[in-house]
Order: sequence, then C-alpha cells, then structure tokens
Amino acid sequence: MHASDAFVAAWREDVVRTALAAQGIEPPLRPAITSPVRSRRRATLAGRRTKKGAIVGLHGRASGTLVEVPECLVLHPDLTAALSALGEITAAGASRKGEVALALTRGEGGIDLAVTGGKPLEQSLFATLSAIAGRADLARLTWNGEIVAGRRAVAQRFGNARVVPPPGAFLQATEAGEAALVAAVREAVGPARRIADLFAGAGTFSLPLSEAAEIHAVEGETAMLAALDAGWRQARGLQRITTEARDLFRRPLMPDELKRHDAVVVDPPRAGAEAQMREIAASPVRIVAAVSCNPVTFARDARILTGAGFALDWVQVVDQFRWSPHVELAARLSR
Ligand SMILES: C[S@@+](CC[C@H](N)C(=O)[O-])C[C@H]1O[C@@H](n2cnc3c(N)ncnc32)[C@H](O)[C@@H]1O
Repeated sequence: MHASDAFVAAWREDVVRTALAAQGIEPPLRPAITSPVRSRRRATLAGRRTKKGAIVGLHGRASGTLVEVPECLVLHPDLTAALSALGEITAAGASRKGEVALALTRGEGGIDLAVTGGKPLEQSLFATLSAIAGRADLARLTWNGEIVAGRRAVAQRFGNARVVPPPGAFLQATEAGEAALVAAVREAVGPARRIADLFAGAGTFSLPLSEAAEIHAVEGETAMLAALDAGWRQARGLQRITTEARDLFRRPLMPDELKRHDAVVVDPPRAGAEAQMREIAASPVRIVAAVSCNPVTFARDARILTGAGFALDWVQVVDQFRWSPHVELAARLSR
C-alpha cells in the first residue's frame, strides 16, 4: 500500500512480460489501467457470532482469524455502509460455531446480499432477517439461496442493456475495470459481424458487442445465461444474441462451430481455456479477444495460438484488485 500507483503498475506489467517470455512471446504491452480507490462493487466478507454479537471482516492470509475492515480503502462506500447490517445479520443467523459468507454486490437499485452457510431459515429467523433488510434498505437478501427480501431488482448496465445477475454471480470487480476490459475487447474484435463470446457470464461483453454484431454467448452456468437473455430481450436496438449452456473445458466449441464467427472473445476462469484454444488454433478463426485473470495460463494459451500462426498484437494490463497481487489483462491475437 506504500508503493506508488506507477510502481505497482510497472510491477504488474512485468508479471505479464515474464509469463509471456517463459513461452517465448514478447508482448507489445500497454500501460496498466488501475481502478480508483473505494471502487470495488462486489466482495465476499465472512461473519462469525461472538459472545458480544458478531464480527464481520476478511480472513488474514491463510488464516482463520477474521479482521474487521471498518475503513476499507478498496470497497465502494455503499458496501462499507452495509457493514453494520451485516453484523446484525450474522448475529441473528450464523450458527454457534460456523461462519457465514456474505456476498455483497452493488448495482442500480442498491445492494444485493447473498448469505450462505447460515442456520436453516425458520419462520422467526425469516422475520428477523427481513426486518434488518428493511431497516438497512437492502435491495435483495438471499439466505442459502432462498429469497428473504426482494424490494428492488439489482441491475447491472452492460452497454444499453440492464441485467439482473443471479445472487452472488460473477461480475467484474469494479466499474472502471469493466469499462477498460470492454473497451479493449471492442477494439480487438473491430468490425466483426458475428462473434462467439465464450465464458460469457451474464453478458459483460456480449451485450455491448451486440450493438454492432450478432453474438453467440456460451457459458457453463444456466442462471447467468438466463439473466443475459432477459436483459437482451428488454433492451432496444441490439442485434441477435443466442445463448448456449456448455462446459467449455470438456466440450469446447469445435472448428466446425467456430468457423461461422469473424471473432471469438474468450474470458475463462483462472485455469485458462487450454482445450478451447486448441480448437480455435485448428479453426479458421482470425481474431481472438482474450481476457484473463491469470497471466501464466494466459501465456500458455497464447502460445497455442501463436504456434498456429496467430500474432499477439497487444496486451492491455488492467488492475481492478488494488493492493493485491492479482493481475488481469485483455489481449488481441490475430492472423
Ligand atoms: C472470469 S468469468 C467471466 C464472465 C464474463 N465474461 C464477464 O466478464 O462477466 C468466467 C466465467 O466462466 C464460467 N465458467 C467457468 N468454468 C466454465 C466451464 N468449464 N465451461 C463454461 N463456462 C465456465 C463462469 O461461470 C464465469 O461466468
């Protein structure tokens, strides 16, 4: 936290440079884009009951100790403002020994809170929780997946569309980080008319890209695709989006399916997209917009494409996890 932003940005760029160098790739690196302080819009905190009430915070590294974060410099102030309600909720609903996970997401409409690991939702607990949610003006509260309070929909704006992601679903961590990634992906695909968006989530890239192209969105979680589809149906002026629930590790899109697309967007979890990249390498696809939260698996996957005639045109480092060692990036590969 004592290092300057410029120093940390240079360090992150170096992490990416080193990972790619290990695969024999020299990347044209763009300067990192860093999210502002107090801009993180989703976080999962842990809560535990104590003799006096409850403690809510973050675990120390590799430790069971919970540390309170009353003046967090990372969280958006709207998330910090919900901390006292999280304490009340933990005191009411955590079991004597266990911890609850409190997943908070900020969107249009307010705060969406998804709690897991709590006591069974009996009638009196339901009443207590729903009263706390009312006092704290939470937009939605779910308890072990069941809705306790749903005062307002918590929507995210993806391009012109509004999407209500399922409780606790993946969402880019900050608005600034998402904007940087979407801008990079838009630039990478250029004027492509037909795009496959793989590991599409709830439509972070599909929906903005559908302003100018037809999209086929593929993702493992059906609930996220349902949210994407509902957002697309309500929006105006977008081109067609088709969705497909599919495990892309086991059943990647094959060259025959890929050949209909002018460009492919790939945004896998930390494990990367090795199986999918092999099929892209064997397909006639010419443009890949790759988004990654793990420079090592990205470098491994990029090597599969460069080995098949792709060039790595540029890499944009994006830092939406301030003061953490996470490094994210978006890149363009083409042939
Ligand atoms: C890093 S997130 C990106 C989501 C989306 N592109 C976004 O920016 O919001 C990775 C996504 O991959 C999905 N996923 C994870 N493993 C998968 C698999 N084996 N097959 C298909 N999708 C998977 C997750 O559900 C998650 O939505």
